[in-house]
Amino acid sequence: MNADGRSRLDQTPEWNALAKHREELGEVRLRDLFEADPDRGTGYTLRVGDLYVDYSKHLVTDETLRLLRELAAATDVFGLRDAMFRGERINITEDRAVLHTALRAPRDAVVEVDGENVVPAVHAVLDRMADFAGRVRSGEWTGHTGRRIRTVVNIGIGGSDLGPAMAYEALRACTARELTFRFVSNVDGADLHEAIRDLDPAETLFIVASKTFTTIETVTNATSARAWLLDALGDEKAVARHFVALSTNAEKVSAFGIDTANMFEFWDWVGGRYSYDSAIGLSLMIAIGPDRFREMLNGFRIVDDHFRTAPPEANAPLLMGLLGVWYNNFHDAQSHAVLPYSHYLSKFTAYLQQLDMESNGKYVGRDGREVDWQTGPVVWGTPGTNGQHAYYQLIHQGTKLIPADFIGFARPVEELSDRLAAQHDLLMANFFAQTQALAFGKTPDEVRAEGVPEELVPHKTFQGNHPTTTILATELTPSVLGQLVALYEHKVFVQGAVWNIDSFDQWGVELGKVLAKRVEPALTEGADVPGLDPSTKALVAAYRELRGR
Ligand code: F6P
Repeated sequence: MNADGRSRLDQTPEWNALAKHREELGEVRLRDLFEADPDRGTGYTLRVGDLYVDYSKHLVTDETLRLLRELAAATDVFGLRDAMFRGERINITEDRAVLHTALRAPRDAVVEVDGENVVPAVHAVLDRMADFAGRVRSGEWTGHTGRRIRTVVNIGIGGSDLGPAMAYEALRACTARELTFRFVSNVDGADLHEAIRDLDPAETLFIVASKTFTTIETVTNATSARAWLLDALGDEKAVARHFVALSTNAEKVSAFGIDTANMFEFWDWVGGRYSYDSAIGLSLMIAIGPDRFREMLNGFRIVDDHFRTAPPEANAPLLMGLLGVWYNNFHDAQSHAVLPYSHYLSKFTAYLQQLDMESNGKYVGRDGREVDWQTGPVVWGTPGTNGQHAYYQLIHQGTKLIPADFIGFARPVEELSDRLAAQHDLLMANFFAQTQALAFGKTPDEVRAEGVPEELVPHKTFQGNHPTTTILATELTPSVLGQLVALYEHKVFVQGAVWNIDSFDQWGVELGKVLAKRVEPALTEGADVPGLDPSTKALVAAYRELRGR
């Protein structure tokens, strides 16, 4: 207990039991665990919708899992989960409900925020999006000069970019190939330049995606895009045919010059990093069509229902969250790798970085006090097999423990030629080989048996014992993508609940924004910015000199 009578997570009996258990387990070996229980490879698995989750290659026993579930019970993870699904204001620092789950609720569901059922509004927006997406896809929605739209440029950043950009890449094989999609986020003018340099303004639709519509990067890029359009088309009226907005802020959208008739709304109970299944997904819906977008929402819902109803022993987000806690807090792991064996998931880990690190990168607890335990890990990774030829060396033989998720599919996308589809088994052979090597390594005796000279034996020994979760699905469909994203959303939720932090605010990004605004006049005009620290002052001076100012 603290002086104020509140118990600290790291002083609870459940936490202490885990710490003791960790000590007792010592250097538990995966080889030994599998030797003791050869059925572990099938026993330590779960099915969630279309996902097969294998957690057998983790440094855990039944007892570890039981103790972790006790920690979840003691920290009332399911209580907070139920409060979230009920629409309670669990985002305490912003006093908001957290209801991304309502974005995929069926039409007849009732989810109330302050006594009002939000589901009809969710579906009204989805219907408007579907109508608009259908018109762009069919060519009925034309540009100002009557030409059909050929390129859609989404301008947004963070959650207003990463989600749609990731999902567009993931589902490329389902997209309308006659349309081109680009995603602009960086305030570096090069981003917009590269996105529009070869486009015809008369055939380009800009989707300005911003929850707040105050984000400087997005507003700046959107303003430049509008200038580019008007330079070419020379008529203010063109804006209405070439710009739509996705936002919660009708006033700012209107002030920017976009007719609110061309705005697709969402709500403050949708966090930016949880928003791509809201109106923020419009570019994706245009790309894959409304039906497939709805399939994706169904996928999200399958995992929502699972998270809400599956018992603790069979609850995949709970399990994945708790395994992360086990390594983060009881093995001092600093990071977590997510390694998809699908080229189409090339942006998946970048998307998860925001989801996880913006949610759980907090050192202050829900009670306003500094926490005394580690919170969110560094999340990183890129698609296999590229990573194998780059940084996997460190995972295999480095000095750090890096738990990893391997995500793979039984079938390649249908569109591939027979020859390219045949490469899929090789891709997946690598997938399985890596988790095998990571788990079981290669002993010095095994190395010697290969005739390796004694002085090279230590170098060629793989200690193994690197924990991994394997997630398999038949194919990367819209539904499976929704299931994967929801799985990680709820995993992040579980960890935030255990660590007693508010996973839904992001105050940590504010200071940099404020300082950028303050520093800008120093760069452009050489203004003397009061309170600028000596280091930044010197850097600004060097910048101005290099810039020739
Ligand atoms: O600065 C962080 C952040 O607020 C993210 O949480 C959000 O996804 C991103 O900026 C973009 O915000 P908006 O959609 O309001 O432009």
